[in-house]
Amino acid sequence: MNVNSIKQVACIGGGVIGSSWAIQFAMKGLDVTLYDINEEQLKKSSDQMHKSLEALVQYNAITAQQCAELVARVNLTTSIEEAVRGARFIQESGPERLEIKQSILAQVEESAAEDAIYASSTSGLLISDIAAKAAHPERCVGAHPYNPPHLIPLVELTSGEKTDPEILQTAYDFYQSIGKEAVLLRKECPGFIANRLQLALYREVQDLVMRGVCSVEDVDKALVYGPGLRWAIFGHNMIMQLGNPGGLTGMVQMLGNSGDKWLADMASWTHQPDNWAEVAQPGVDAEMARFPEHIGHTNAECAAYRDQMLIELLKLHRKL
Ligand SMILES: NC(=O)c1ccc[n+]([C@@H]2O[C@H](COP(=O)([O-])OP(=O)(O)OC[C@H]3O[C@@H](n4cnc5c(N)ncnc54)[C@H](O)[C@@H]3O)[C@@H](O)[C@H]2O)c1
Repeated sequence: MNVNSIKQVACIGGGVIGSSWAIQFAMKGLDVTLYDINEEQLKKSSDQMHKSLEALVQYNAITAQQCAELVARVNLTTSIEEAVRGARFIQESGPERLEIKQSILAQVEESAAEDAIYASSTSGLLISDIAAKAAHPERCVGAHPYNPPHLIPLVELTSGEKTDPEILQTAYDFYQSIGKEAVLLRKECPGFIANRLQLALYREVQDLVMRGVCSVEDVDKALVYGPGLRWAIFGHNMIMQLGNPGGLTGMVQMLGNSGDKWLADMASWTHQPDNWAEVAQPGVDAEMARFPEHIGHTNAECAAYRDQMLIELLKLHRKL
């Protein structure tokens, strides 16, 4: 399938992720139909989309007129049949329960075009299991977004045992064509890539604090004003490449085995500390209390600051 032939997309499930996917597809000029189980849920989806788009207007990423046009591009329906009719690409973002995802797929297959691609936003289920009872498992891929998908470019693609490699490639090309940054998992792997990286780092964050090496506030500061700034630009391998005149190879030779001692001393536990929230919450509260005025001191103020900075960063990355 040529990705340019994908003009209409169905979003199945319009919660946090589904309503954000709908905005993403609409922003790229696609016609979107969003399905949810009842009118009450659709009202919530609609409110969520308005809120997300208003933030984009507020931070000058889109105009008020564009906001209205985007809302008009998303049709809302409580009929799966209507949602998938004419759609070449179906993005499922229903609840994270295998039996529900299998049932959604069965309903979609009753009405969808035979050549439609089915992409599940699942965070943790295997696409092989979701498609286990499907009539066309070869058309199913895992497409895990990062929240919120209309802002964060990453989408992690997985294939099941029966996924057609050409379908996976088309899904990859489609996401790239709408400005997403797709990555491919060559094997099914719990937690995919990004969440595993995040958890590996968080284990060390927790360990440094629990061992009394540093405060909650300082471990956050070390991340934000150190590696976090560079990681917002390039990945770790590229940071290595640029860190030495000899590139990554020169950097590896320069560092030698100097990190082995650190590795031996670092956290390797496989159960998170039960009292972590108890330890960390007062530290986070103190951190927020000391933020400068332009960041703010409440969750709402800090979340608005985060969203604004994210939008500015995406503009610098030419992703908005
Ligand atoms: N929230 C995140 O940060 C995040 C990030 C990446 C991926 N995901 C994945 O995205 C999916 C959706 O997560 P969410 O956070 O949007 O959940 P959510 O609870 O906000 O949304 C789920 C939506 O599915 C609807 N729904 C319920 N039963 C349904 C059915 N039978 N058919 C269709 N829709 C139905 C609900 O009404 C709700 O609107 C999950 O698979 C989750 O793992 C979530």
